[in-house]
Amino acid sequence: MKIEKWVVREHIEGVPDIDRMYEKVAEDIDTDLADDQMLLRTRYVAADMYLHGISLDTPLGDHVGGASVMEVLEAGPRAAFRPGDLVHGFGGWRSHLVGTGAAELWQTGTFPMVFPAFHRLDPGDYDEKLPVSTALSIMGGPGLTAWGVLNRFMTVGPGHTMVISGATGIVGTLAGQLAKRAGARVIGTTGSPGKADRLRELGFDEVVHYRHGDHAETIGNALRKAAPEGVDRYLDHLGGNITDAVFTMLNIDSQVAVCWQLATQVGQDYAGPRLLPYIMFPRTTIRGIFSLEWFSEENWAALHRDVGGLVRAGEIAYDQTVHHGIDSFPAAYRSLYTDRSASRGKVIVEL
Ligand SMILES: NC(=O)c1ccc[n+]([C@@H]2O[C@H](COP(=O)([O-])OP(=O)(O)OC[C@H]3O[C@@H](n4cnc5c(N)ncnc54)[C@H](OP(=O)(O)O)[C@@H]3O)[C@@H](O)[C@H]2O)c1
Repeated sequence: MKIEKWVVREHIEGVPDIDRMYEKVAEDIDTDLADDQMLLRTRYVAADMYLHGISLDTPLGDHVGGASVMEVLEAGPRAAFRPGDLVHGFGGWRSHLVGTGAAELWQTGTFPMVFPAFHRLDPGDYDEKLPVSTALSIMGGPGLTAWGVLNRFMTVGPGHTMVISGATGIVGTLAGQLAKRAGARVIGTTGSPGKADRLRELGFDEVVHYRHGDHAETIGNALRKAAPEGVDRYLDHLGGNITDAVFTMLNIDSQVAVCWQLATQVGQDYAGPRLLPYIMFPRTTIRGIFSLEWFSEENWAALHRDVGGLVRAGEIAYDQTVHHGIDSFPAAYRSLYTDRSASRGKVIVEL
């Protein structure tokens, strides 16, 4: 069977040069299935900044990784799912694939990671308010990340001031809305002026404009104005100067979730341990977030029940921007880095 897929052609650090890094190729795949194999068709793929790290660890010529929603077209007698099932997994930028859907070890440069086994999506969980594409956004990994930060690490309640850097994606907007519901005062940062209004609509109390590379003093002044009582909870996606500033504002018993460090990814900025005195006096707890640890049937059910229920009741909102067709991968992925104001929330490609 002829399929199309995007492969890694070159490894490039920093802001990815997408035209050089990736190439679309056609391939003939063998659809003579083993007993435990399936032939799957990709329906949706998420564009996410972590793909860059994965791409740098992908052997040249191999397909680009990434979370996807797939439909089972054919299945061997011992396969995990049946034809017609919709599944979520790390299928990558491929029109079709043959596989078992088993968990897969991904040996990165820093530490081994396991892509979880595919899991079946229950059609009853999806409707026009929560279309299947949300399995890659608010009902998928980003949603589970925000839910996990609030339910598996941070204790957020009335009297807390929470700062979320890089707040306009699904992780930041959902975490912010959940923190507001828990009674906290929430401050988000964005580099796209148009998105500031959206954060306010979602209930954020203050919005601070920040772009990677802004001066530490400028961002510090803006943050101190927005959070005159200091910071109790910090969900960090950006690192760099903004995190330097927040660390000087941490209150006693503060909690910091390190979810991403865009300044390191884009700006190769590895400074930081000098900040440790700032966490000693306020007895801050800092926790790295690695949301794959929360990918369990129990947590998916809780996400659908808790967050899905709130979305259906109109109490939580989410945004996503859908691109169409396998040829739109470069544009969708590039939009994460350039012209960010043109998209809202999770960027998804529908095939
Ligand atoms: N650790 C984990 O387990 C885990 C799990 C899920 C996601 N993540 C990571 O967490 C981050 C947020 O996830 P998401 O799905 O909400 O992401 P997203 O929709 O891709 O949002 C990315 C955020 O980064 C900001 N941003 C992008 N480029 C920037 C730049 N050059 N300077 C400053 N800000 C920039 C955008 O802000 P504006 O356009 O508003 O400026 C946006 O708020 C992503 O980087 C993702 O890879 C980590």
